[in-house]
Amino acid sequence: MDEQWLERWREGRIGWHEPEGNTSLQKHWVVSGKRVLVPLCGKTRDLIWLEHQGHEVVGVELSELAVQAFFAENEIAYSIVAGPQTAYVADNRSITIYCGDYFDFSAGPFDAYYDRGALVAIPPNLRGRYVGHTRSLLREDADKLIICLEYDASIATGPPFPVPAEEVLSYWPDLQRVDAYDDIENGPPKFREAGLEEMIEVVWRNP
Ligand SMILES: C[S@@+](CC[C@H](N)C(=O)[O-])C[C@H]1O[C@@H](n2cnc3c(N)ncnc32)[C@H](O)[C@@H]1O
Repeated sequence: MDEQWLERWREGRIGWHEPEGNTSLQKHWVVSGKRVLVPLCGKTRDLIWLEHQGHEVVGVELSELAVQAFFAENEIAYSIVAGPQTAYVADNRSITIYCGDYFDFSAGPFDAYYDRGALVAIPPNLRGRYVGHTRSLLREDADKLIICLEYDASIATGPPFPVPAEEVLSYWPDLQRVDAYDDIENGPPKFREAGLEEMIEVVWRNP
């Protein structure tokens, strides 16, 4: 699984990347001044948007290519700090990306959590472990915003995987569904080729 992600970065097959960041984050994120965890962050510009809201932002990403691309493309100078996982720390900024396997990441605790393209990237058999690990990194009352997908899995297969509402609520009973819209036109081409006509992006947040 890990090798498939690294290969995608090497080959530039990163269709999930949003050059302008995620509009649902910008619409629904309501907290400021927190230490925010962004698992499986890729090179998302959401890290910069969150920093601009006054947060200390910490991403975790497997691919070193992705981490380096984030800093290069946004012209952010950084220092490398060795440790169990190498930390790329933005100079005079509030962004750090740890490079390595999220399941080995332990630099909590966090008081907010943003998940886009992460829970949905984890295969169903690893999802419980992913959520348990995330919970271990968060404070009890952490703010959360999680963007999930719902689609007919008998027509198309992930990643990204669908995560039904019951499953989301079984992990995080405090979340509410605050938005939902069809985003099939931005879904992977393989979905449309398979005949999928609707892919709902669902935004979950705690009140
Ligand atoms: C679908 S992409 C989403 C990236 C980002 N959240 C975004 O919205 O652009 C999933 C990312 O997770 C990374 N990844 C996959 N498994 C991982 C793991 N076990 N630990 C850390 N990163 C991982 C991949 O390299 C990839 O960049």
